[in-house]
Amino acid sequence: MLKGNLIIKNAAQLVTCSGFKAKSGSEMADLHLIEDGALIAENGRIRAVGRTADILQGVDATGFTVIDAAAKAVLPGFVDSHTHFIFGGYRAEEYAWRLRGDSYMEIMQRGGGIISTVAATRGAGLDELVASGRRRLDAMLSFGVTTVEGKSGYGLDRDTEIRQLEAMRVLSGCHPLDIVPTFLGAHALPPDYKDREEAFIDFMMATVLPVVAESGLAEFCDVFCEKNVFSIAQSRRLLLKARKLGLKLKLHADEIVPLGGAELAAELGAVSADHLLQASDRGIDDIARAGVVATLLPGTAFSLKAPYARARVMIDRGCAVALASDFNPGSCFSESIPLIFALSVLNMEIGIEEAVTAMTINGAAALDRADTIGSIDPGKQADLIVLEFPSYAFIPYHIGVSTVEKVIKRGTIVFDKTRHEERDDVC
Ligand code: NIG
Ligand code: FE
Repeated sequence: MLKGNLIIKNAAQLVTCSGFKAKSGSEMADLHLIEDGALIAENGRIRAVGRTADILQGVDATGFTVIDAAAKAVLPGFVDSHTHFIFGGYRAEEYAWRLRGDSYMEIMQRGGGIISTVAATRGAGLDELVASGRRRLDAMLSFGVTTVEGKSGYGLDRDTEIRQLEAMRVLSGCHPLDIVPTFLGAHALPPDYKDREEAFIDFMMATVLPVVAESGLAEFCDVFCEKNVFSIAQSRRLLLKARKLGLKLKLHADEIVPLGGAELAAELGAVSADHLLQASDRGIDDIARAGVVATLLPGTAFSLKAPYARARVMIDRGCAVALASDFNPGSCFSESIPLIFALSVLNMEIGIEEAVTAMTINGAAALDRADTIGSIDPGKQADLIVLEFPSYAFIPYHIGVSTVEKVIKRGTIVFDKTRHEERDDVC
């Protein structure tokens, strides 16, 4: 069997999500589904896609792994385009405080929240960050994620920010998941910069950002643009510099209050604007017009008991919406993709088809990778999932439980729920 050579045949549904760019508005509901579908992948790339009877006629399967996907649905691997998966320590006590009624921002303002993870991350060595990161990536993979974005932002100093990005580089070299690294140096104000936000932005611009850009350790730059964190003007200043240094842009925008983050993301031509729980009508129209992907994170609204982003309005006004986990130790400590699906269709008026588009091709677009991943199209990377069930409709229906049987990365099976090598049960 040659690595990366794969044939999938007889799929009850081949959910192709076909396309090479973000899908916006009504396009999001069309999954370009093929019944009794098949595909051929060679050297990790998809070569042919169609009905089994049409594309497998006369094909010699020697040297190919063959999956018979009868009674199963096959989809592109999920793209989780917003996570903070490299961090030290945990914040379980904070979760209990929130249940008691303390708000996320109150906890942050009294030195907990992000700042407490910053202390733990500063104290964690590279090996420790790699080891915990690897376990989290394994969990993501089991949920069908084949590409993940990860942010720094728990260092807020030069060395720790770089160490977080280095941990992602190490993991990129040894884990099947593809990792897209984002520099989020302006994630919070460290205590030694109290009331000196401008000075902290200056420090990031002069001392950290150039090292990040020169080393190629990050592809994107992001800022937590929020009341009592970083203002619109401060975010703009840092992002303009990042853009000049060749980084692409993302923005934590309008999460807690409607500050104008969506408008800023549109003004700067960011690849995505994320959260958007409080985005204004104008902000929504601006990102729709500018082609900024609206990355929505329902797990965070759920965990913080905050109102969900207005996904229906966004899609109806022509936005391209992506869904992501926002996995992090504070506002959403969950890698669960099935949870994200269930929350989005039950609470955000997103159709099941739209949710699938949002987790695949639009997730890829949120990482500027819609030309290479996120759909089952000839020429794309063979990143795929096989479900235990015959239809994509089972993903949110089986609430909170993963329906993913196999995960394929570049044409090779990297997760298989049906293999139990270490077990000796015979049933
Ligand atoms: O996306 N909002 C800011 N940052 C993260 C939370 C990080 C944390 O609480 O550790 C978010 O929700
Ligand atoms: Fe986030």
